[in-house]
Amino acid sequence: MGRFVYERNCLVCHGRWGDGDGELAKGMIPKPRKFSTAIFKYRSTPPGFLPTNEDLVRTIRSGRANTSMPYFTQLSDREVRAVVEFIKSLSPKWRKPANYAAPVPLPEPPAWLSKEGETAAAVVKGKATYSLVCATCHGEHADGKGPAVAELKDTWGDPAKPADLRTPALRHGRAPMDLFRVLTLGIDGTPMATFGEALSEQQRWELVAFLGTLKPPASAPAARP
Ligand code: HEC
Ligand code: HEC
Repeated sequence: MGRFVYERNCLVCHGRWGDGDGELAKGMIPKPRKFSTAIFKYRSTPPGFLPTNEDLVRTIRSGRANTSMPYFTQLSDREVRAVVEFIKSLSPKWRKPANYAAPVPLPEPPAWLSKEGETAAAVVKGKATYSLVCATCHGEHADGKGPAVAELKDTWGDPAKPADLRTPALRHGRAPMDLFRVLTLGIDGTPMATFGEALSEQQRWELVAFLGTLKPPASAPAARP
């Protein structure tokens, strides 16, 4: 059943053997994931490890904003589970227990983050960390146009565009936990490293506070139609 669901719904982009080279893939940025390499961007597991079933299901059910990955609400739970198992048959990495790891436990957001008037100091510190660590790629104005952009490639050799962090619909989501998770676990296959060690937990929450203040410029369309 997994193969059937895949051939009907996924092959056109992800390709027959999961090489990301389906008919519609041409010119897409980012490209459809190559399941044959089994490197995944949307993980709750540590960097370099395979994602959980739930991670894969979330991508399939909800799609990924600002990419061509659609959401599939019409598939039954059985069909989604089957297509997840099919994806796993496309790379030998899934047959090695050493590639599996449990989700990384993440702390709850600190109480101050949701209290009006208590974030100002953290936002200032977060902005300073941002200018130092993130601006070379994401740009001083967080528009995704930092000086390093031209050289950035992903693992698959395609241009890797740093996110415009002002957009309301980020691929990983915009909730504080979503941002904290990306900062802590990184995005495999892309130059977006993990900051779980380089930055303290406090520094990561300060960055989340700062990112929460960003808004799209008035002239730009508010969201993807
Ligand atoms: C119209 C094209 C298109 C179709 C159809 C499509 N995908 Fe995708 N898919 C993409 C693109 C593009 C990405 C890359 C998104 C990114 O890099 O952020 C993606 C990413 C994914 C990922 C994320 C992997 C990761 O890195 O964490 C999964 C899982 C996935 N697709 C599964 C499926 C399944 C299962 C189907 C069919 C039920 C499907 N896709 C159909 C275009 C498509
Ligand atoms: C070496 C370049 C580089 C640096 C440094 C960098 N990023 Fe990124 N970042 C990227 C790229 C490239 C992506 C897009 C990856 C993808 O999905 O293809 C990204 C994605 C992200 C995302 C996810 C966006 C989404 O749509 O979900 C967030 C959030 C983010 N970066 C925040 C930061 C913050 C905060 C810092 C500093 C601590 C930082 N990045 C440092 C290159 C970088």
